[in-house]
Amino acid sequence: MEASFVLLPGDGIGPEVTAAARQVLESVAARFGHQFHFDTRPVGGIAIDEFGDPLPMATLEACRNADALILGAVGGPQWDDPNAKTRPEAGLLTLRKELGLFANLRPITAHDQLIDASPLRRDLISGVDILFFRELTGGIYFGESSLSPDGSVATSVMEYSAGEIRRIVRLAAAAARGRRGKLTSVDKANVLEVSRLWRRVAAEVMENEFPDVAYEVVLVDAMAMHLISRPRDFDVIVTGNLFGDILTDEGSMLPGSLGLLPSASLGEGQPGLYEPIHGSAPDIAGQDLANPLATILAAAMALRHSLGLESEASAVENAVEAVLDDGLRTKDIAAGGPSVGTQHMGAAVAAAVANTS
Ligand code: NAD
Ligand code: IPM
Ligand code: MN
Repeated sequence: MEASFVLLPGDGIGPEVTAAARQVLESVAARFGHQFHFDTRPVGGIAIDEFGDPLPMATLEACRNADALILGAVGGPQWDDPNAKTRPEAGLLTLRKELGLFANLRPITAHDQLIDASPLRRDLISGVDILFFRELTGGIYFGESSLSPDGSVATSVMEYSAGEIRRIVRLAAAAARGRRGKLTSVDKANVLEVSRLWRRVAAEVMENEFPDVAYEVVLVDAMAMHLISRPRDFDVIVTGNLFGDILTDEGSMLPGSLGLLPSASLGEGQPGLYEPIHGSAPDIAGQDLANPLATILAAAMALRHSLGLESEASAVENAVEAVLDDGLRTKDIAAGGPSVGTQHMGAAVAAAVANTS
């Protein structure tokens, strides 16, 4: 197969982790006889510096024409001035919106070999296997916002339409049907009108279309607690943009590091966007310290969801398990023990792809 990837390294550790993912994809292409083309484009802070725009038109056009997009991360302290005209993060938000990528899948699975690297107890996290569906193109991220002329009052509106709720709940419920058959919807319906609409629409979808899927609702504050106290009780979780952002960073402590969680952002027909859930990690950027596994696992999701290459996706996931079995650890998952750098880890996974079934 021929496939074209647009690589969007971005800022901070972004270039380091996307380079590792590219190396793994090249290894997949060699082993399975595919031709993968890579086109690297600027996004985020680096694009502001070069073009004054965090998502230059040429980057967006290249993305529209690709089969799949692999993004590192955007942002950093040098672009954090609250008075700046634009921000790196705006580039990523516009990309998601322009491509209609409303469904953000964030799997959270505990790797057996890493259980003791998590700050949480083994008996709590062993066997965790959760799939978050975070709504990605609506909610408070995209509602109207304002700042009063004297700069003393600001608003950000959380808005959802029934249609936006319905389509993400449907996808999440369908995924639950193919897994352990349970869906948890997370909202703040005891306080927010927008959450009461979310709850009503979600219940309708579940009752009419998914009577075979076990369904429950949990308030977001309680969910922050249950996610840590009884994570094995959850199968698929669906929630809005902001709650999903926060809960999945929290959820990264189940496997043990933000550097382990991949994500896929999907729409209808457009190329999917695949990225780690973490940010640009300015504190470790440029030091070969970043864990590339989240981005490598995101590349596996690209093979599965955008290219339909299931065996290739599994080969990447198995290669990650194999290097972990071999004891290879980046610093974030080494629990104080010996560790390897970003490049070493990427090369080891690429080599394992060539050798592992
Ligand atoms: P962050 O996710 O960049 O980092 C949080 C902590 O996790 C840091 O200590 C970092 O060193 C560590 N970490 C993150 N990824 C890691 C990895 N792969 N390996 C090892 N350790 C890792 O969050 P932050 O510091 O709050 O944000 C930094 C910048 O990143 C901000 O500008 C933010 O807007 C941006 N950001 C971007 C994205 C994205 O591009 N999708 C996501 C989140 C944050
Ligand atoms: C993420 C990030 C982004 C978000 C930022 C960088 C816009 O935190 O992908 O989780 O909030 O969606
Ligand atoms: Mn986030």
